[in-house]
Amino acid sequence: MSQLRESIHGQWSSRWIFVLAATGSAVGLGNIWKFPYITGENGGGAFVLIYLLCIAVIGIPIMMAEIMLGRRGRRSPINTMRHLAAEEGRSPLWQYLGWAGVLAGVLILSYYSVIAGWSLAYVARAVSGVFEGATADAVGLVFSDLVSDPERLLAWHTIFMVMTMVVVARGVKGGLEKAVSYLMPALFVLLIILVGYAMSTDHFVDGLSFLFTPDFSKLTTDGVLIAMGHAFFTLSLGMGAIMVYGSYLPEHTSIAKTTFMVAGADTLVALLAGMAIFPIVFANGLEPASGPGLVFQTLPIAFGQMPGGTFFASLFFVLLVFAAWSSAISLIEPLVAWLVENKNMTRIMASVWAGMGTWLLGIGTVLSFNVLSGKEYQLFDKTFFDLLDYLTANIMLPLGGLLIAVFAVWQMRKQSSMDELEMSNTTGYQLWRFLLQYITPIAVVLVFLRAIGVI
Ligand code: TRP
Repeated sequence: MSQLRESIHGQWSSRWIFVLAATGSAVGLGNIWKFPYITGENGGGAFVLIYLLCIAVIGIPIMMAEIMLGRRGRRSPINTMRHLAAEEGRSPLWQYLGWAGVLAGVLILSYYSVIAGWSLAYVARAVSGVFEGATADAVGLVFSDLVSDPERLLAWHTIFMVMTMVVVARGVKGGLEKAVSYLMPALFVLLIILVGYAMSTDHFVDGLSFLFTPDFSKLTTDGVLIAMGHAFFTLSLGMGAIMVYGSYLPEHTSIAKTTFMVAGADTLVALLAGMAIFPIVFANGLEPASGPGLVFQTLPIAFGQMPGGTFFASLFFVLLVFAAWSSAISLIEPLVAWLVENKNMTRIMASVWAGMGTWLLGIGTVLSFNVLSGKEYQLFDKTFFDLLDYLTANIMLPLGGLLIAVFAVWQMRKQSSMDELEMSNTTGYQLWRFLLQYITPIAVVLVFLRAIGVI
């Protein structure tokens, strides 16, 4: 048994704060920006169904495993894996799982910050009233003007990285949780208003049927991989973000219940975003598969037509920035916690170094939308941004999640996981174990083999 029952970085003041922080991490650009555009690119309903299935049978059990490992290890993911492997008499190589997670977090944050920068830019545009009565064409132009200008993208990316590192430097408990506890519900309400607006277009049913009527002829193998990858991405799984948050979780809180709340809220937000966006897409004759700009090219049209649109548009993009902010801090926290533990750095110095490295890498993404967007700069038909996103979300996260599952159920003693989950050998526990023992590894491996064309 570990002697250290509290992390040196402190601990959440209550289970509720943990739920907020984990929901803050999960709900982000993944739900509002990424989910709609990849759903559009992958044909709709069938893709959504696979995504939901992955959330239920892979995402939820892995989230429980990550929280459980984090709380048991009480350290940064690298040291948690090292420590737990030793405690369970397993190979020290398991610490490299922590390292892979740190790398994935930095890679993801480097482009996440650029997209969060778009949201910041849109706050500025919304406040100035440019969307008032704007046509789809005008809104499209606002977007292409923004992304074609590397200087502006770099400026917004820089501002967002500084915002993120300021919060991380103060410790994840400082400040943001309070903000998140008001802003997340506000975002939720605003999404419902937007869905209400979408109902008033005469294409609401088209939007719904695009999202919820599965047509498997539209789903490619790659689409299945993307759906699975997104289940990891949207729940912040597979790289240690939820593990590090779990390491700050007080004892005697139900990990299962907490997980259901976080996963439920996250899924709801994504579906609401889809229900708001697709009716607008169809009502305005836009292309569902138009890519990463989808949200930025659709919702402003709706704002432009509704009463009080400038106000709602400004509010929406502010809330989107907050959602991205509370996600971003969890992407870098595993690295910062490790720097504090092993390199004797203060949180401030750790944040500065981690932030600078991530910021630098982000320049690649900034340029991939303009200067380096041409075919001659692409690999496998993908820009630098596309490659990073594909590599992290569809390969690194599922692989990390698979290994987390293997560790939790094949390497740890059964008693250890039962103790930490505070579950006895109930049906619930057995189901959790079964899903991680067999379903998760088999599903991930099959989808991988299929995607590379082996089967
Ligand atoms: N889940 C967040 C979103 O949907 C992004 C995110 C935060 C994330 N932390 C993560 C993704 C860790 C993968 C791993 O926007």
